[in-house]
Amino acid sequence: MKRVFLIVLDSLGIGEEPDALHFGDRDCNTMKRISEHPCYRNGHTRSIGLANIDGQEYLGPVERPTGAFARLRERSMGKDTTIGHWEIAGIFSPKPLPTYPDGFPKEVLDAFEKATGRKAICNKPYSGTEVIKDYGMEHMKTGALIVYTSADSVFQIAANEAVVPLETLYEYCRTARKILTGPHAVGRVIARPFVGDSPETFKRTPNRHDFSLTPPAPTMLDAISGAGKTVYSIGKIYDIFAGAGITEYVYTHGNTEGMQKTLEALDKDFEGLCFTNLVDFDMLYGHRQDVEGYAKAFAEFDAWLPTFIEKMRPDDVLMITADHGCDPGDDHTDHTREYIPLLMYGKNVQPRNFGTRTTFADIAATVCNYLGVPYECDGTVMDFSDKAISDELARAAVGAMKNAYVPYSHYTVGAALLTGDGVLYTGCNIENAAYGPTNCAERTAIFKAVSEGRTTLRMIAVAGGRDGAVEGLFPPCGVCRQVIREFADDDLPVLLVKSAEPLAYERVTLGDLLPYSFSPKFIQK
Ligand code: THU
Repeated sequence: MKRVFLIVLDSLGIGEEPDALHFGDRDCNTMKRISEHPCYRNGHTRSIGLANIDGQEYLGPVERPTGAFARLRERSMGKDTTIGHWEIAGIFSPKPLPTYPDGFPKEVLDAFEKATGRKAICNKPYSGTEVIKDYGMEHMKTGALIVYTSADSVFQIAANEAVVPLETLYEYCRTARKILTGPHAVGRVIARPFVGDSPETFKRTPNRHDFSLTPPAPTMLDAISGAGKTVYSIGKIYDIFAGAGITEYVYTHGNTEGMQKTLEALDKDFEGLCFTNLVDFDMLYGHRQDVEGYAKAFAEFDAWLPTFIEKMRPDDVLMITADHGCDPGDDHTDHTREYIPLLMYGKNVQPRNFGTRTTFADIAATVCNYLGVPYECDGTVMDFSDKAISDELARAAVGAMKNAYVPYSHYTVGAALLTGDGVLYTGCNIENAAYGPTNCAERTAIFKAVSEGRTTLRMIAVAGGRDGAVEGLFPPCGVCRQVIREFADDDLPVLLVKSAEPLAYERVTLGDLLPYSFSPKFIQK
């Protein structure tokens, strides 16, 4: 029973994207900002690979992260929650959701007034508490609806529950939702009911309700539930997708409850996706420029991780990511155009550095690939299975043969290795007129890695044959075996390629190739 637990740390970006300036952002990096606060802790996320993600070196990379990881760039032209989550789920948005700094255009308001039979007043960006103070009395007298917006893509309707019954207000919102399509497809229409009979006593009620925009095309959620599997939403995921493709959901009040519900989901028997949004990072700390609160919230999440991991089943995959940035220490309170992190962990996840990706949609592709659900999107699968990574290494070894410098023997050899921190290096053999200085392919690959500070191996593949052909095994020589042993233990998988097309290899261990090996431990005190 394969399950993916995808947790979005809302707004936890990891550094500005190349086009951040177009979005009014400079020098932003949410993760780096909070990491500078003394309350910040990252012990568990760091051991999975947080500090090994491109650009996160300032956090102190580890030698052998336990998970796979990547940095993802947003391809959509937005930096909001909706567009970020939609891209994670496979949808690319070429335009940001519309905002209305000067109020909604006449055609929108006319249609709204006609459909509801009530006038609309205000029609400006406004604070939610101020707008009822300033327009509440006029609304009470005339029955006109208070329509306002904010810096976000929202159409908000405030009405006194004594003037417009709650159900009627919700009906007006549904009406607005139908009008606000095409170029005016705002992210959310929000009902903002209040009570009281004077500006001093007006008070908003908890009956606020959001009417989200339905994603314009099927997302991975539709694909997964369409394949008969569960899509369980925790927190505001349900609203972000207007419920589309979701089979079960629960709302939460903040991070602590979101983590609790996610932990409880581990005990449910289901196949599919559990999709959680932890909103406090953004709502309570990012927008409020509260670096300390943000750092503490991350420390809380990091400390919670082992509890979750301990309960994971063998076929569970945990993915931790974000949807955009909201640097709490930059020069504005808005979201920031940032890369997002991705950490993937589980028994089926072979540690691997998947580098920097060009779209968040790689997450959708990866989730669906793991669950065995067909889904067409612009994302590329990050296949973290041992089989995929073994194949990749074997193929890379064959590929590395092409640069072999072999004017004397004509035997071309290629090697590919995966380092402890999940990076792939290749090497070829390099001969010499004096014969003796010849360097084997394995050693070329190893020395490249070691010269860049990577001194542990997870796997190595070797391929070779005369003039570029692979016609059977070409096993490492004794010297190479000894050099490999310097940087790996007896259990290191060694892939001996025996055919390139179709790809075939034997999988042995270093211990098989070099029994009773001499290793650094014999000369360590
Ligand atoms: N060779 C390797 O590259 N790796 C090995 O482990 C075995 C041998 C190369 C060295 C030389 O260039 C060619 O194969 C023929 O011996």
